[in-house]
Amino acid sequence: MPHDLISLRDLSKSDIERYLKLAAKMEKNLYKSQSLLKGRILGTLFFEASTRTHLSFQTAAKRLGMEVVVFNPETSSASKGESLSDTIKIIDGYADVIVIRHAAEGSARHAADVAEHPVINGGDGGNQHPTQTLIDLYTILKEKKKISGLNVHLVGDLKHARAMRSLLYGLAMFGANVTLASPKGLEMDSDIIEEVKSRFGPHLRIRQDIALADADVVYVCRVQKERFADPYEAQKVQAQFRITAKMLEGAKKGMILLHPLPKVDEIPPEIDSSPHARYFQQAKNGVPVRMAVLCDCLGKK
Ligand code: NCD
Repeated sequence: MPHDLISLRDLSKSDIERYLKLAAKMEKNLYKSQSLLKGRILGTLFFEASTRTHLSFQTAAKRLGMEVVVFNPETSSASKGESLSDTIKIIDGYADVIVIRHAAEGSARHAADVAEHPVINGGDGGNQHPTQTLIDLYTILKEKKKISGLNVHLVGDLKHARAMRSLLYGLAMFGANVTLASPKGLEMDSDIIEEVKSRFGPHLRIRQDIALADADVVYVCRVQKERFADPYEAQKVQAQFRITAKMLEGAKKGMILLHPLPKVDEIPPEIDSSPHARYFQQAKNGVPVRMAVLCDCLGKK
C-alpha cells in the first residue's frame, strides 16, 4: 500500500526492520535496480538548505529508474507569496511521490494531509528527520551487527537537532543505552525524553560534558545556528562543545563516530582519517536507504 513517512512516532519496530532489510537488498543490487520504479516521478520540495538529503533522494530515484522534478523556493512562485498548501497541491498533481523539507515543525504532516500521493519528511524544522534515522540505524547495524545493548552517546545541540530527536526514538525502540550529552541550555526537550521513557523504558543518562570511554557509538551534530534567536549565542556554544583527537585516545577500540553532516568545527578535519570515523560511509548509505524508502512508500515490494 502506498503511504507517507512523516515521523518515527508513526513507525513500529517491524516497520523499521522492513525498511532496513529492503535497504540491504538495495545496497546489494545498487546497479541493477533501474527498472523498479521506471516511469514514476519524484517531486522534491526543499525550502531549507540541503546537500545529502536532497542529492541522495535524487540519486536513489535515478537508480530506481525514476525521473525527478525539483522545486526551488527562490525561483518559484513561493517567492511571489504562494501558500505552502497551494504549492503542495501543484506538485502533487505532477509527481507520484513528494519529499519535503521545511523550517516549520509539522509542515510534512500538513503536506501529507493536503497531498494525495505519498509524502516523505526530509526534515520539518527541529521536529523530525525519519529517513536520517533509518540511515543511522542501518549504519550502526552494518558496523556493529546489533543495536540492542550498545552504549550510544548523542552529542551536541540536542534541543534543536531533528536528527537527534528522531534517532532517540529509534535507539530507544531498539534497546540501546543512550547518553544525551549537550551544553547547558541545549538539552533535549524534557517532554520528548518523558515520551520516549514511557514508550520504551530505555537506559538514559544525561550529561553536560563529553566522556566517551564506555561508548560503542558516538553520534555528534552541529549547533543548529539557524534555529537560534541570537546567532552570537550559537557561536559561543559551538566553540565549547567539540570532539578532539585527545578524547578519542580514551575511546573503545571499535567505537564508531557518526554525524548526520554537515560538520562545522565540532569534529576537526584530522579526525576524518581516524579509524573511528564513519560519517562519510554513513552519508553514502543514504542512497540504498532512500531507495528502500521510495519503494516502500510507493507500495513496491
Ligand atoms: C541534518 C539536517 O538537515 O537536519 N542534515 C542532514 O540531513 N544530513 C543535520 C544538520 O543540518 O545539522
